[in-house]
Amino acid sequence: MLCIVSSMANCRKLRLKDAALKRLLSVVVVTLLGVLLLIVSLRTNTTPGLSELDEDLSEIADIQSFSEKLNLPKQNEFSIRLAKQNQMPPRNRDLYPKLAKDHITIVLYVHNRPQYLQVVVKSLSKVVGISETLLIVSHDGYFEEMNKIVEGIKFCQVKQIFAPYSPHVFPDSFPGVSSNDCKEKDDAGKKHCVGSPDQYGNHRSPRIVSLKHHWWWMMNTVWDGLKETRGHNGHILFIEEDHFIYPNAYRNLQLLVSLKPIKCPDCYAANLAPCDVNLRGEGWDSLIAERMGNVGYAFNRTVWRKIHKKAKEFCFFDDYNWDITMWATVYPSFGSPVYTLRGPRTSAVHFGKCGLHQGQGQTNACIDNGSVNMQVDDIDKVANIRSEWGVHVYDNQPGYKAGFKGWGGWGDDRDRQLCLNFAQMYHSHNTYLSAVTMS
Ligand SMILES: *[C@@H]1O[C@H](CO)[C@@H](O)[C@H](O)[C@H]1NC(C)=O
Ligand SMILES: *[C@@H]1O[C@H](CO)[C@@H](O)[C@H](O)[C@H]1NC(C)=O
Repeated sequence: MLCIVSSMANCRKLRLKDAALKRLLSVVVVTLLGVLLLIVSLRTNTTPGLSELDEDLSEIADIQSFSEKLNLPKQNEFSIRLAKQNQMPPRNRDLYPKLAKDHITIVLYVHNRPQYLQVVVKSLSKVVGISETLLIVSHDGYFEEMNKIVEGIKFCQVKQIFAPYSPHVFPDSFPGVSSNDCKEKDDAGKKHCVGSPDQYGNHRSPRIVSLKHHWWWMMNTVWDGLKETRGHNGHILFIEEDHFIYPNAYRNLQLLVSLKPIKCPDCYAANLAPCDVNLRGEGWDSLIAERMGNVGYAFNRTVWRKIHKKAKEFCFFDDYNWDITMWATVYPSFGSPVYTLRGPRTSAVHFGKCGLHQGQGQTNACIDNGSVNMQVDDIDKVANIRSEWGVHVYDNQPGYKAGFKGWGGWGDDRDRQLCLNFAQMYHSHNTYLSAVTMS
């Protein structure tokens, strides 16, 4: 302390005070340091135990408040088993211990058409670069024949997930059929049955609503629920059980994803196939920007957040098709046209000629002996997109858009609520476990 007071007495007083203050300060500092050290040592010594305990405790609390708050359907033993299975690590990690840094995760969503799945898997096995990434197969329902095919995959890391709230998993209660459900055009008041009809007066059909439920559950789960992907920063590619994938699909997609910010800043996604699924591409020396397609589409987390914000629009639109719902409500609500970028030659083909949920257990199978006649030319075996190409933009393409009323099939309040619950299940509580194993 600088003592410039003229009187010596005053100065000494100050010096004394100063000394006392210093002592006090050193006591405080030493005490603080001690406490700090104690905290640090406690943390380093017991962190795992403490946080595990925390998790256990909060998990129980979560499960209770979670079910009450979200009102998810009561799970049965089987659906709990499926939810637990969803936490199994990917297979083939011994064969492919590391994913490439810039990998594009592939999600294949399937129901129950083993003959189709076989074709898809065989086509995937020939995709150049597939071993660099993780393949997630999302199942609507549990079917041994489907599992067998997935278990046979050896060409990359594979993770199987099963929609635990699939109507196919609930034989006698919602989301499946329950005995007092209204059927077809029943009058709920007169028949004392449960259900609210769609805009055309029809009651829900669990087999039909399962499609949209599965898609929405799968989207929420891969982006926000799975520990393997919820930190993934790149794109995720989505394909279906009746999409044939060309050998150049992955390398082309990588090019499209890297060109997208430069060539088409307005593009939300990249697509492997034209929006019109009957087309195979123009064959021009040009990239194409057009409306979002539903075959082989890939986008990133920024776009997912935008979609997720429109959960209400998605869940309340009276159409059982996820893609028509997106075209008619979600994309238009973004405020500007939703373009996607693709190459001039297709890298994926929708080969299923039968509608969904048909074509199995029928005499007129849509595909013969698990193979389909798809022509793959040499040009489809290597990346065939050029970074120097310009972009041709298709404006005002025909198709479902804002104003379309929907085909119905999605009028039941219970379905709409379940759908909303899927959008919330990884957000109101941040423990993944509670969301997937809760009963
Ligand atoms: C994700 O894609 C959108 C649309 O292409 C783009 O605007 C955004 O910058 C991308 N986000 C990241 C983190 O790359
Ligand atoms: C499918 O396989 C069966 C038995 O291998 C054979 O008899 C039949 O001709 C095949 N069908 C077609 C269309 O190839």
